[in-house]
Amino acid sequence: MLRRLHHEQPESFAFTPANQAWAEAQITKFPEGREASAVIPLLWRAQEQEGWVSKPAIEYIGDMLGMAHIRVLEVASFYFMFQLQPTGSVAHVQICGTTSCMICGAEDLVAICKEKIAPTPYTLSEDGKFTWEEVECLGSCTNAPMAQIGKDYYEDLTAVGFSQMLDDLAAGKLVAPGPQNGRYAAEPKGGLTSLTEYEAGKPAHNASVELALSIKDGVKRIQGDEVPLLTPWVGKDGVVAGRAAAEPTPKAPARPKPAVKQAAEAKPAAKPAEVAEAEPELLKAARDGKADDLKLLKGVGPKLEETLNELGFFHFDQVAAWSEAEVAWVDSRLKFKGRIERDGWIEQAKQLAAGEETEFSARAKKDGVYEK
Ligand code: FES
Repeated sequence: MLRRLHHEQPESFAFTPANQAWAEAQITKFPEGREASAVIPLLWRAQEQEGWVSKPAIEYIGDMLGMAHIRVLEVASFYFMFQLQPTGSVAHVQICGTTSCMICGAEDLVAICKEKIAPTPYTLSEDGKFTWEEVECLGSCTNAPMAQIGKDYYEDLTAVGFSQMLDDLAAGKLVAPGPQNGRYAAEPKGGLTSLTEYEAGKPAHNASVELALSIKDGVKRIQGDEVPLLTPWVGKDGVVAGRAAAEPTPKAPARPKPAVKQAAEAKPAAKPAEVAEAEPELLKAARDGKADDLKLLKGVGPKLEETLNELGFFHFDQVAAWSEAEVAWVDSRLKFKGRIERDGWIEQAKQLAAGEETEFSARAKKDGVYEK
């Protein structure tokens, strides 16, 4: 199977603030000069956030890790666990089709996917909510047949139950992961025959089910604030264990180093406070018919400029004047949240509105190279 970048790509990618903190903390697991070792966890988190791995996500991660974009693409295209095409907005269903599951009914599950989602794998359902594929053994053979969605396994499936499960997910209902026949995990169907002394103190559900029940969602995309940021190696003072500030370890020749805001990430990622939205002043058209070239803002490509114009923004001074609540209003109408803050649109717009150049605008004008 050819694994290539999808022909349709989003304009940009950015981690949510909590996922960004998580990603930066992951990089600190590795010695300086070896940041590239974090490429798989970062790609995986990008996929958990967006549902798939897009070209902008590959480039973004390459920039974070100081890696050539092609090197990140090589990793993403090598491992089949990375989806290189858009997946369902609710779920990408991976049906195990290997021996145990096959003889226990996987073919019926695949038939349901073909009927309810799309006749072929990796194809979006009509409502865009689902995609499916058949995968090799997922190591849950005792609970065959089974399917994986995101991180979780849905086990001991029946055709009727699986069909209902898809309907429930489409309707936004919670479907708890784990065995669907009442089993706790992979114990014999008739109950434990050994280690029975552990039966009494057992929690009501296994950890995956517990988490899904606690956040009332089993298939949610990962925003990063669902669980505490576990980075015990990052000290509260922001010093990474083994990297004393006073005597830095001699390191390999300089290479781009990701900016790690360790102090902030030492604490569990707090859920970002919801900022109330306020509609900024909008214009029906550019003043005097002369719009500013908003593509001179780093992070704004032609499509984003079009979107901003459609919303009613044509001038740098409009962007420069956005308050926090107005940023929230604009952000919620863009395809990828967090760009305004991440790329510093307001600071850039203030400079440009004052007739100054930013480093990006000067380069863009000189080389004629804008954001894509
Ligand atoms: S055969 Fe399906 S999980 Fe192993």
